[in-house]
Amino acid sequence: MPHSLRKLDVSPGVVLWPGCLEPAAQTALIEDVLVRVRDAPFYRPRMPRSGRPFSVEETNFGTLGWYSDEAGYRYQACHPRTRCRWPPMPESLIALWSTLTNHPALPECCLVNLYRGDARMGLHQDRDEAALDAPVLSISLGDDAIFRIGGTTRQSPPRRFTLRSGDAIVFGGIARLAYHGIDRVIANSCSLVPGGGRINLTLRRVSPV
Ligand code: SIN
Ligand code: FE2
Repeated sequence: MPHSLRKLDVSPGVVLWPGCLEPAAQTALIEDVLVRVRDAPFYRPRMPRSGRPFSVEETNFGTLGWYSDEAGYRYQACHPRTRCRWPPMPESLIALWSTLTNHPALPECCLVNLYRGDARMGLHQDRDEAALDAPVLSISLGDDAIFRIGGTTRQSPPRRFTLRSGDAIVFGGIARLAYHGIDRVIANSCSLVPGGGRINLTLRRVSPV
């Protein structure tokens, strides 16, 4: 169960639960993540066409993982290097999905983003899913990050706020295709992630029911 259900309506379709996971739940979750990363190590995705490496490292849990390289953005059932299926999603995340999104179908993808050093995430839409009726649930662990979320065009004025370890954010409905990104991560603001940095867990439903 989430620790705090204090809920902030950021903008239509965007909800923030600050401190949703208490410190003990954050520690348990990071352990669930790291044990799975042993089987599905972080790799650095590349931009479609240019092949330019991302500044974040990624891996996935669940039946489908989001992946990017020269051939484009896509979902696939297996890790690009090990060729094995992605590890199962931690049960606690599935429970959190049901509590916070109230969406009837289960999430299929938990994308894991690791931010170290100057890693950031440019403004983008999450639009590789056929199930756009399902919202996106995003959980932050580790260092604070400056998050930006706007409307469904790049020009729409964004809101900026800090995402701290244990915070959860959901965007769906009219905000499902909202442009969002991480402007920067504040190094050493939290000691949760071994070796430092920030881990973001993004849960999504991919297939229509
Ligand atoms: C993403 O949009 O893929 C990541 C967002 C975050 O790191 O909080
Ligand atoms: Fe995203």
